[in-house]
Amino acid sequence: MKAVVYHGSADIRLEDVPEPKLTEATDAIVRLTSSAVCGTDLHMVRGTMPGMREGTILGHEGVGIVEEVGPYVRNLRPGDRVIIPSTIACGSCSYCRAGYQAQCDNANPRGSRAGSAFFGGPEDTGPFDGLQAEFARVPCANAGLVPVPDSVSDDQAIMLSDIYPTGWFGAKLAEVTPGDTVAVFGAGPVGQFAVLSAFQQGAGRVIAVDGIASRLAGARALHAETVDFNEEDPVEIILEMTRGIGVDRAIDAVGVDAQHPSSGPAVPGDEAAEEFAAERDAATAGGARPAGDTWVPGDAPSQVTRWSAEAVAKAGSIGIVGLYPPTLNAYPIGTALNRNLTIKLGICHHRRYIPELLAMVEAGTVDPATIITQHEPVSSALDAYQAFDRRETGWTKVVLDPAA
Ligand SMILES: NC(=O)c1ccc[n+]([C@@H]2O[C@H](COP(=O)([O-])OP(=O)(O)OC[C@H]3O[C@@H](n4cnc5c(N)ncnc54)[C@H](O)[C@@H]3O)[C@@H](O)[C@H]2O)c1
Ligand SMILES: [Zn+2]
Ligand SMILES: [Zn+2]
Repeated sequence: MKAVVYHGSADIRLEDVPEPKLTEATDAIVRLTSSAVCGTDLHMVRGTMPGMREGTILGHEGVGIVEEVGPYVRNLRPGDRVIIPSTIACGSCSYCRAGYQAQCDNANPRGSRAGSAFFGGPEDTGPFDGLQAEFARVPCANAGLVPVPDSVSDDQAIMLSDIYPTGWFGAKLAEVTPGDTVAVFGAGPVGQFAVLSAFQQGAGRVIAVDGIASRLAGARALHAETVDFNEEDPVEIILEMTRGIGVDRAIDAVGVDAQHPSSGPAVPGDEAAEEFAAERDAATAGGARPAGDTWVPGDAPSQVTRWSAEAVAKAGSIGIVGLYPPTLNAYPIGTALNRNLTIKLGICHHRRYIPELLAMVEAGTVDPATIITQHEPVSSALDAYQAFDRRETGWTKVVLDPAA
């Protein structure tokens, strides 16, 4: 079968690989009908999410048809159409039962204190082969896979595999309550779902910050007020837009590949630029191999943590879903402490949120497919990865057809 395979920083290949087989009693084999490329994949290929094992199939967003099930998958049959949650969780341990599926005790073969188990990730996450492929082995399928009603399209369902739940989780972490003014840093696909989710959770105003015009236009289409960090200082303008108070909540939907402004009033001074460069070296552990303007690690890993800690009101709260690697230790803890901020962060508990979001999609309350900007055959996956990596105009969310 065809699959997108990781070989090293800046080195991914479309290859023919063997089809997966059932290995555990709770496994299912799923034939993917839709997959997608995510900002998380970019971190791994840029080298800012280190520890990838050569030969791992990439991708953690998938929708498909169940082909085969192990003997302990008693709730699904071949032919069922399902969403595959990005994180893998057993459904039995105390963490899963409490809704903390990303911290499942059993899904990660490296042990209960290893990282969240997810598809197509670094060594510490399993590793498990991912979903940018024609078929996938889905562990803990009985507790993970979510059946999709016929009225929900593949394009809608694929947004529920990872990024809509993650945007929703970001708003939950930030403790959005009715009437709040919320800043969302990053207007990529996850940021756009954070904008949508913040409004759905009652926000009165949402301010989206990014440096890419087409992505800011996407956030504006969702009725966010937008700020281009290459034109304005986001902290200054957020204070001005909120009568000097700041926002109640902030959501970080950027993560380690954050960039500092390249123009405008918020370009960092020499000292900050040096700090950022040291952070980037720590994050990549020397493993990045940028090629021209492609696969370039972010030049300011802690930029968004700094801006969000300054842009929230005193005693405000911040939800971080942008990913940061364990090798990075930079956080503006002094600012946060002295302003009595609440910070919550983590990997999304996808399986916890998918059913309620799916119900809203089925009811027609929201159409998550509007975030998709490209449909590409998996045979064009490498070009699609690069255009998305370079944040080319209009390339915000790429859905892959695994069979084409
Ligand atoms: N926690 C989770 O479970 C989870 C799940 C999915 C994705 N993620 C993470 O969410 C983040 C966003 O994912 P995505 O697919 O939208 O990625 P993306 O790379 O498409 O989007 C990131 C956006 O941030 C913008 N940006 C860069 N520097 C910025 C800055 N200083 N201020 C504001 N915006 C800035 C970029 O221009 C880009 O539009 C990634 O870190 C991804 O790994 C986390
Ligand atoms: Zn993703
Ligand atoms: Zn569990």
